[in-house]
Amino acid sequence: MLSEKLTRIPRTTLWSHPTPLEAAPSLAKCLGAENIWIKRDDCNGLAFGGNKVRQMEYYLGDALCKGADTLLITGAVQSNFVRTAAAACAKNGLQCQVQLEARVSKSSDAYARSGNVLLDQMLGATIHHFPVGEDEEGADRNLEEIAAQLKVDGRNPYVVHLHPSHPPLGSLGYIDAAFELDQQLKAQDLSVDAVFVPSGSGNTHGGFLYGWKGIGNTAPVMGSCVRRDANLQRPRIETRLEQIGALLVDEPAAKAKDVHLTDEFLAPGYGVAGDVVKETIALAAQHEALILDPVYTGKTFAAAFEHVKANPGCNIVVFHTGGGPSIFGYGVEDLLP
Ligand SMILES: Cc1ncc(COP(=O)(O)O)c(C=O)c1O
Repeated sequence: MLSEKLTRIPRTTLWSHPTPLEAAPSLAKCLGAENIWIKRDDCNGLAFGGNKVRQMEYYLGDALCKGADTLLITGAVQSNFVRTAAAACAKNGLQCQVQLEARVSKSSDAYARSGNVLLDQMLGATIHHFPVGEDEEGADRNLEEIAAQLKVDGRNPYVVHLHPSHPPLGSLGYIDAAFELDQQLKAQDLSVDAVFVPSGSGNTHGGFLYGWKGIGNTAPVMGSCVRRDANLQRPRIETRLEQIGALLVDEPAAKAKDVHLTDEFLAPGYGVAGDVVKETIALAAQHEALILDPVYTGKTFAAAFEHVKANPGCNIVVFHTGGGPSIFGYGVEDLLP
């Protein structure tokens, strides 16, 4: 069984599962859905929460199994993954070294110093900078070099790689999320037409899809591209499914035909909100007090709202994957219409 295979992989619990599944009646009424359910992964409790907390449980589990005393990770300047790693390390007695990549062309003081960057420092992480934003292999190589020096200094470093060729341990956290959502829906006797997730590294999308189909659900999983267009993202998710199968020694139930993606809300690009995303951010805040960000959740909710408008009376779940702290690196003009 899939759940049994998952328990063979090391994991360190970082929060008290599950996250709430909440109705959004005011949004549903405004947009014409029967129900919009929000899976509140932004509420999972570790230093402002988010999807990366579920993912970090598996990286930290692996790091601790290998006796690591230092964890290295790379991400955008306002990366939630980096902040989550710093938090997980603080809580478990590891030193954290984070590399911030110049991925978004924003030079304001707030972007460079507030939000997640401020939290990284509060959580005690050592910060490095990497001048390129679109070089996954180069960013990993630089981390490996820092790790090599740490070894010379007598430490035992563990690197969380960025390049998609590395085993996607983080995806396993979203197989957990699929089990969790399935149980919550069954407990309330609810059925849904579609589930919306962000699609960036592909750990959330790939892992959730793997788990959701693996336990026999038929509602489509709709990925909203947040980093690259759908043509580039599709093979990444298909590869994720194969990589997860290899990790678990399992045959994926999710196939290429189950990968649904839209890149309609990606423009103008990673880390920047277009007009529809700004309207989405305002709508979610003003109807349900849901705080979305311009990088990930704004784009995911925009895809969900578009689906609702095209399918009146539908029942959907949208994953709120967190990212709140990054908004303090942006200005009103970046977030609102
Ligand atoms: C808040 C938030 N949502 C969604 C994502 C995208 O998730 P994934 O990288 O698993 O595709 C990220 C990635 O950093 C994130 O920080």
